[in-house]
Amino acid sequence: MVSMRIIRIRILSLRRAFKKHFVASAILLLLAVWFATGILFPRAPERPKWADRAVTPAQRAEVVKDVFKFAWRGYYTHAFPNDELIPLWNWYSNSRNGWGATAVEALGTAAIMDIPEIVDQILDFIPTIDFTKTKDPVDLFETTIRYLGGMLSAYELLTGPMHHLAHNKPENVESLLTQSTTLANTLKFAFDTPTGIPRKTLLLDKQMATGSINTASSIGTLVLEWTRLSDITGDEQYAALVDKSMNYLLNPKPQITEPYPGIVGTWVNVDRGEFTDAWGTWGGGGDSFYEYLIKMFVYDQARFGLNMERWVKAIDSTIEYVAETPQGGNLTFLTHTTGKSLDHESGHLQCFAGGNFILGGKILNITRYIDFGLKITESCHEMYIRTATGIGPETISWPPARMTPEQENQFKTLGFGITNANFDLRPETVESYYYAYRVTKDRKYQDWAWEAFVAIVAHTKTRNGFSPISNVNKVGGGMKRGSKQESFLFSELFKYLYLIFAEETEIQVNYEGRNEWVFSTEGHPLRISGTAV
Ligand SMILES: *[C@@H]1O[C@H](CO)[C@@H](O)[C@H](O)[C@H]1NC(C)=O
Ligand SMILES: *[C@@H]1O[C@H](CO)[C@@H](O)[C@H](O)[C@H]1NC(C)=O
Repeated sequence: MVSMRIIRIRILSLRRAFKKHFVASAILLLLAVWFATGILFPRAPERPKWADRAVTPAQRAEVVKDVFKFAWRGYYTHAFPNDELIPLWNWYSNSRNGWGATAVEALGTAAIMDIPEIVDQILDFIPTIDFTKTKDPVDLFETTIRYLGGMLSAYELLTGPMHHLAHNKPENVESLLTQSTTLANTLKFAFDTPTGIPRKTLLLDKQMATGSINTASSIGTLVLEWTRLSDITGDEQYAALVDKSMNYLLNPKPQITEPYPGIVGTWVNVDRGEFTDAWGTWGGGGDSFYEYLIKMFVYDQARFGLNMERWVKAIDSTIEYVAETPQGGNLTFLTHTTGKSLDHESGHLQCFAGGNFILGGKILNITRYIDFGLKITESCHEMYIRTATGIGPETISWPPARMTPEQENQFKTLGFGITNANFDLRPETVESYYYAYRVTKDRKYQDWAWEAFVAIVAHTKTRNGFSPISNVNKVGGGMKRGSKQESFLFSELFKYLYLIFAEETEIQVNYEGRNEWVFSTEGHPLRISGTAV
């Protein structure tokens, strides 16, 4: 009873307040209604003005370059020299030890796009980074692919095809190499284990390496960057370290952890040099291990023949056992398996594989691999165009995997159920469009890349950058998530989008039918050391 009276009094006083501040209250009410309808009836964002105006590849490359500049400015103004911008809050984060990940990852792209102002800004910065100090744990794999790969690639571009950009800062360009060496010297104690397989995480202040197990991808994705460092500097120690640890992945033990020929488990015991499971995947934990098997063959056929043989085994097994076409559809996805049964799930990360099969098929002249790569690429394209935003989700599954009623409905209409609807500015699908275009020269892939680009800009753009979104299958894309704008937006997504429209240059994949450069897993091109294939 008492509470009823209190409520009535409250309502009365609310009414009085409403009368007293009528205009302000009315505005508040209208705002609330507007906000609620926005949530209940979300609108599709407008198509950017340039989307239909830019038609030729040259015009489209120019738009991608403008968008890259816009994103750089936002980061430089609000987050530099921290690792990433948080676009929704104009704030920053340091998920990569605070060494300026976005700046380092953007340098090669700025060079390829021929933007002297941005190249200068980053060249001034990199010599000032102290790679020997950080209070946060260092992830050997992430640090290698983002920082070491980013600096080595920029060094090769700025002493090679883009050397005109270095004219007033030759000593800063030289510093890219000395900083790479410093970084590798700082990290190399990770390999100081009974087997030579590196530990995953390093504490620099304590000079301690942790993790008694490490993944196939974390171990197997160092080989390109560390080998390149040796080949450029002439100091063999870096190549020797990765060479030794790769042996355990190329000759996996025990036998049962290789569920199909070439397909390996995910976790490796660093102290014993043995795999601990037989869960094979083209997603996180396995992905770039397989990717680098064939890329090392591109890098140097004479030295990396065994890597190629292992890749061929893995691809044959993948086509036969690990790829799955969900019932009643025409899409083919790569799932995970222990050799007993398939997991019936896949995702955006696996979409790089299309491009990897196309690259390998082209250099080995095996049409079957190219065709399979194109099929995976097409399925990832369908993952994009069938959603409400035109952007593909993070992860999917299909029957007989256990699914919610909503996912079952999605399966009926889309051909896959969405298990994680986020989009994190990931590059893998566009990366595969790039390889598909470079090898077939079919302009359809350029159009697919353009439509993905338009959808991504329309749905993720903020005032100063691009934000991860929460629901690719909701009109409008759901919410901007308030999380970081990953540095790979700069090294991969923008670069592949630019290069698919850009003119022929020596760094392009399949340039005059050969590859003089090879792209790292993080989109950083490195010059090959053998003869071009
Ligand atoms: C590629 O393979 C086909 C047969 O599969 C052969 O006819 C062709 O000559 C090969 N091309 C090269 C460049 O080796
Ligand atoms: C699958 O079928 C749909 C509709 O029949 C078609 O539009 C699409 O291109 C096909 N996709 C593949 C990968 O074959």
